[in-house]
Amino acid sequence: MANAKDETRQLATFLSQLKYEQLPQEVVDIAKASILNIIGCAIGSSDASPRRKAIAALLPDKSVETPSAPGAATIWGRPERTDVETATFLNGIAATAGDYDDTLLRTVIHPSCTAITAVLPWAEVHHLSGKELILGFVAAFETQAAVANAISPSHYDNGWHITGSTGSFSATGGIAKLLQLTPDQFAAALGHASSMASGTRAVFGTDTKTLHVGLHGRNGIVAGKLAQHNFGSCPAPIEAWARLVSTTVDTGCIGELARGGPWQILTTAFKPYPCGVVIHPLIDACLEVFRSFSINGEVKATEGPRGLDDLAEIQVTANPQLVRLCNVRHPRTGLETIFSLYHGCAVALVYGRATPAEFSDDVAANDPLVHSIRDRVSVQTDPKLRDDEAYLTFTSSSKANSPQATRTVYIKHATGSLGNPMTKVQLEEKFLNQTEKYLGREKVRKVIETCWKLDSMEDVCELVRLLAT
Ligand SMILES: *[C@@H]1O[C@H](CO)[C@@H](O)[C@H](O)[C@H]1NC(C)=O
Repeated sequence: MANAKDETRQLATFLSQLKYEQLPQEVVDIAKASILNIIGCAIGSSDASPRRKAIAALLPDKSVETPSAPGAATIWGRPERTDVETATFLNGIAATAGDYDDTLLRTVIHPSCTAITAVLPWAEVHHLSGKELILGFVAAFETQAAVANAISPSHYDNGWHITGSTGSFSATGGIAKLLQLTPDQFAAALGHASSMASGTRAVFGTDTKTLHVGLHGRNGIVAGKLAQHNFGSCPAPIEAWARLVSTTVDTGCIGELARGGPWQILTTAFKPYPCGVVIHPLIDACLEVFRSFSINGEVKATEGPRGLDDLAEIQVTANPQLVRLCNVRHPRTGLETIFSLYHGCAVALVYGRATPAEFSDDVAANDPLVHSIRDRVSVQTDPKLRDDEAYLTFTSSSKANSPQATRTVYIKHATGSLGNPMTKVQLEEKFLNQTEKYLGREKVRKVIETCWKLDSMEDVCELVRLLAT
């Protein structure tokens, strides 16, 4: 039997007994916004390179031709349907491919991709309600955040990709909730998850990174179904795993929510730009400078904005996390641009935008002006600055001895951070920008409407059938 201090057991019991009515309204609101945000990211990356390769590898012999085939789940942004495990896999790869999701800054995890791509296909094939979906999503999210908090910061610093290594717990928490597992079964499922929990930072910038989220949903389904049949595990499995993968372990974080601790979902920061969150204040500053180059907002990128030739140096001062996480000087692929502060600054200055198009393979490899601006960026760090804060000093060459030679832009809270969150209108625009090409404007409008009223939906299929193309 588990003892009273068993943190895994406390978390499992709390989530197993959690009722929709216990969720604060703000939690429900963020859950709905997250669902919209991640569906947008997944459809926006329908044709991303890792997703195309994964489809070629997994789909041909498994796709289901008839849309009404029982048990088949939707591959978002595609016409085919497939079994639920493969659907969570392919939706997960797409959702994470652009790194355009969301972040909890305390641990830099990106929890929503896994949580949604695990629970939504499962809810679809079992015709669950919107409320059940939201409850499963929140259970998944809070499970991952609790585990991540317990192992931070050393886990990530030692080379683990924390979103990857903690995501199997998330998917398991979500599926366990949807399966209505008992506290014993729920805790055992988390034990099974601990045996499937991995992911390193060595694979950043490669297709393997997307595999992390891809695998989570399938792992959660296996763990949950086994536990439902009383496939057993040890007491305190999360604590045991945490002690192995962290040298700064705080197991008390695991059961914190069960003891009345705060909902971690309330600290969600949605990403306004498709790259590492620590680059976001730099992009804000560069976009501000771009606007001063342009005339009435009109700049032809091909001609090069006025002022760029003159720009000799961009000196960045930011939190040391910036260099630890995103110091790739010359990314060669879209996947590598996610980790390049230099690329983020350059595209904002050259194009006046930082949307997925500016983080593509083509811009990464082939834009000489972007390459040249990357080389003009230098960085110094200051641990007193927060992650969402930065100073950028722009120095022009021609005015070297004049008072206009340098200009400093200070960003106090980057767009999308908790101090400057994305608005509902911005989230809707982000969704439209990513999905219009695949769904068409009319369907986009319907998906947005449907997400906002998820809590009154009897069957989530009403939403999911809009996501097929
Ligand atoms: C949507 O796209 C437009 C045009 O590329 C861009 O200016 C705008 O910032 C984008 N909005 C969001 C929220 O990404």
